[in-house]
Amino acid sequence: MCGIVGYIGNKDPVPILLKGLKRLEYRGYDSSGIALLQENNLTHIKKAGKVSDLQLLVDDSSIKGTCGIAHTRWATHGIPNDVNAHPHFDHTGKIALVHNGIFENYETIKKVLVKKDVHFSSTTDTEVIVQLISELYYNNDEKLTFEDAVRAALQEVVGAYGIVALCADEPNKIIAARMGSPLVLGVGEKEYFLASDASPIIEHTRNVIYLDDDEFVIIDKAGYSISNIKSKKIISKSLTKIDLTIEEVEKGEFPHFMLKEIHDQKHSISDTMRGRLNLDNGTTNLGGIINYIPNILSASRIYITACGTSWHAGLIGKHLIEEYARVPVHVEYASEFRYRNAIIDANTIVIAISQSGETADTLAALKIAKEFGAITLGICNVVGSSISRETDAGIFTHAGPEIGVASTKAFTAQVTVLIMIALNIGRKKGVSKDRGKELIRALKTIDQDVAIILKNIKNIKKVAQYTATAENYLYLGRGINFPVALEGALKLKEISYIHAEGYPAAEMKHGPIALIDENLPVVFIAPQDDTFNKVLSNIEEVKARGGIIITVTDNVNNSIKSLSDFVLTLPKTHKYVFPITCSIILQMLAYELAVCRKCEIDQPRNLAKSVTVE
Ligand code: F6R
Repeated sequence: MCGIVGYIGNKDPVPILLKGLKRLEYRGYDSSGIALLQENNLTHIKKAGKVSDLQLLVDDSSIKGTCGIAHTRWATHGIPNDVNAHPHFDHTGKIALVHNGIFENYETIKKVLVKKDVHFSSTTDTEVIVQLISELYYNNDEKLTFEDAVRAALQEVVGAYGIVALCADEPNKIIAARMGSPLVLGVGEKEYFLASDASPIIEHTRNVIYLDDDEFVIIDKAGYSISNIKSKKIISKSLTKIDLTIEEVEKGEFPHFMLKEIHDQKHSISDTMRGRLNLDNGTTNLGGIINYIPNILSASRIYITACGTSWHAGLIGKHLIEEYARVPVHVEYASEFRYRNAIIDANTIVIAISQSGETADTLAALKIAKEFGAITLGICNVVGSSISRETDAGIFTHAGPEIGVASTKAFTAQVTVLIMIALNIGRKKGVSKDRGKELIRALKTIDQDVAIILKNIKNIKKVAQYTATAENYLYLGRGINFPVALEGALKLKEISYIHAEGYPAAEMKHGPIALIDENLPVVFIAPQDDTFNKVLSNIEEVKARGGIIITVTDNVNNSIKSLSDFVLTLPKTHKYVFPITCSIILQMLAYELAVCRKCEIDQPRNLAKSVTVE
């Protein structure tokens, strides 16, 4: 949610900043901008639209500097236009600032500044902080330094931020601070980078420092220093080596990141399981949470909290953990959980699931759970992310960077981790070794299963072409596959803008059946398990009312063939691995539909990858 880049060093900052913005564009893409400082001269260009629109203007300009900041925006306060694009400036034009997050008390501060005749040009919350810094720096008897003015302003704002700022009266210096929104400092040879994640930094240096909340960075000719925003106490932090590769953050031969990431699942699920499966004992080795296994075993309840796709993974996790481990699991939207009086105590385990590890609601829910004494565990994809650092322990999904806005490989990795947790606890609670081995054997063949699915996409394309003009889509599944239906529907909504709903297949009779006519495609998830015949009856009900039937199954029999308009066949697998293979075919269906509808697949309207605001 908004991407920030900053650079100071001996190179031309322009290409570094623009390439960095392109890498961060998944975080927001409604406008972007760049500001450069050359001695005491601050110049800038900003533009509504994609980073490529900014690039055209920059290419036509002679903008240059020795250090600079840049931003790609996902609008919260103020419509996406040129004026509201970042960087924002104070009324003297000498201070520039980029911001990721929300200043909640901006109206109060703005009123005070307006009374002092400060003129605002944008309708953003961000402009308030830059005007406030200016007021403290230029109109203050105390004669604060730029650094102190920024520190003082940050103490007056309430909310979440990652900020990076420049001042024309103190050239060759960048100031940054973090409270709630991610910020990474890259440390190169006499050059420094700041970014919302490590992807803009990797081709320049592998040495980074993940900033924590309340931290303040000053970078100038002398190098960098990190201190507490308020107390100014110097914080010594060690460098982390990032092992991300450039290939991982580029889409290579694929037309879209989403398609690349769907294909990555041919190995990413195995990457998640690497070193964690123990076939001989029919169990899993989960070093990341090993010290907390006794707490899980004796827990009175588990909450899983997450948002969006990660919440769907949580629903699948509930099914698995209750089935194998027999511990009650409640799955909660983090945005609800954080504001309700849930029953949380020291006997409660709270598992936060998040691809980015930065989702504001999930992070806040986690913090509340900690306050009430719960043990907190994380399932995150991004190493070094806030949630992974805030939790007592956790398991990284190791799916590799996910850049497409619609989550794909992160979801299947999350489900894989939940399977491994459920089995681990289950084995300790009496699930037999043979049952464990059966599941592990199925997990071990998943790469082949995924490769088969992704080779046979002819039928998926046919379904997409036939239903591309549909206005609605219904996804129906039962048991552990009800959340798979929810996830299939979410994927479709996000990238094709077709309204879609996921429903428990039998629940359809209690309302959605009224929607069925010859224009409504209905996706049935029909695994070969004890729900199969029940789903078959639900298919009959839709058939009788003329709906377009698309059945996804690993059990193609004559009834399925005769009832369905289209059959999407999956390789036979374990019933608890089926949600993974089925989700992949539904990801492909959503992708192909979005292609047919000529949608902007990696940058769907109104969305951003990492939702770091409430
Ligand atoms: C959907 C999607 C979102 C995210 C949600 C949580 O494709 O990507 O629904 O799942 O915003 O994000 P994380 O997992 O980063 O906390």
